Amino acid sequence: MQTTFRIRRFNPESPSLAAYDQEYILETEPSDTVLDGLIKIRETIDESLTLRCSCRGSICGSCGMRINGQATLACKTKVISMVSEGGTIQIEPMKNMPIIKDLVTDMDGFWKKIREVQPWLQPKGPHPKGEYVASSESMDHLTGVMGCIMCGVCVSDCTVLEVDRQFLGPAALAKAYRFVADPRDGQAKTRLFELNKLGGMWDCTRCMECVEVCPKGVGAMDRIMALRAKGMEKHVPSTCGSRHAEVFEDLIRQKGVLDEPMLALRTFGLRNIPTLMSYIPMMLRAFIRGKVPKTGFFHHAIPGIRDIQRLFHKMRESK
Ligand code: SF4
Ligand code: SF4
Ligand code: FES
Repeated sequence: MQTTFRIRRFNPESPSLAAYDQEYILETEPSDTVLDGLIKIRETIDESLTLRCSCRGSICGSCGMRINGQATLACKTKVISMVSEGGTIQIEPMKNMPIIKDLVTDMDGFWKKIREVQPWLQPKGPHPKGEYVASSESMDHLTGVMGCIMCGVCVSDCTVLEVDRQFLGPAALAKAYRFVADPRDGQAKTRLFELNKLGGMWDCTRCMECVEVCPKGVGAMDRIMALRAKGMEKHVPSTCGSRHAEVFEDLIRQKGVLDEPMLALRTFGLRNIPTLMSYIPMMLRAFIRGKVPKTGFFHHAIPGIRDIQRLFHKMRESK
């Protein structure tokens, strides 16, 4: 089948330093992956095309790139699944990291963040005589997260990293979870204290992009949510993030409806007046557009609140 590969090119040695799209027309087989196509282009049409790959079997994690607007592994993506006969496939380097050349990105920042979470076991106490033993049940839930191949695809498409480079990002936080939840590790609480800081586990907006794009089903966002739950269990100091979760639950239990003004007030409290004040324009806009309940600025409990409270009670009991 004939396919047009539209590839985002960037040459750090060109005087303009501008990225541009270049098109290549290629005959592809139904079994060809996007990586096969790119290698064919490099071998038969344009040897200057630069890309990174190694295993060609979704193992090494080196061929991450954006295909038709979403980050993925080129060796795991069949051309036929992305484009129909005569169509065009768009290929770009991963986002949220500097581009070295064409489709090759600089992963230094990615590795720096992985190192920041100290991705190695730190058991407490003296070493046992033999080996560290952990039951399979206590390790089973970690197999998914251990499947991470460090490809950076989730980092590329993380919506928070687009605006906040300080954020640790999905891959590093999933890696942090892997050690916090490992029964052999003795530093869970210290790790959670670190992750509680700015740029850590509370800065994810739960957009789910990292879950959607991960080629290995690591489910980074779910691991971040699990880290938050563990942080609250272990009473790491209350942050806006954890207070938001606690107040959210409390308001639903009290009123059966989300009381946004009260949520902001109780989350930031008097500790953070400037942040609280920054919400005033939004509140006024909500008021003008009729988003504030007619019964007053703060919500009242809904009829049938007792049923909701009974649900909360049952949930507590089942825990
Ligand atoms: S869910 Fe969180 S970590 Fe994952 S991509 Fe969205 S903001 Fe980033
Ligand atoms: S979590 Fe998934 S997408 Fe992210 S680095 Fe690991 S394997 Fe790649
Ligand atoms: S080449 Fe190794 S994961 Fe694609």
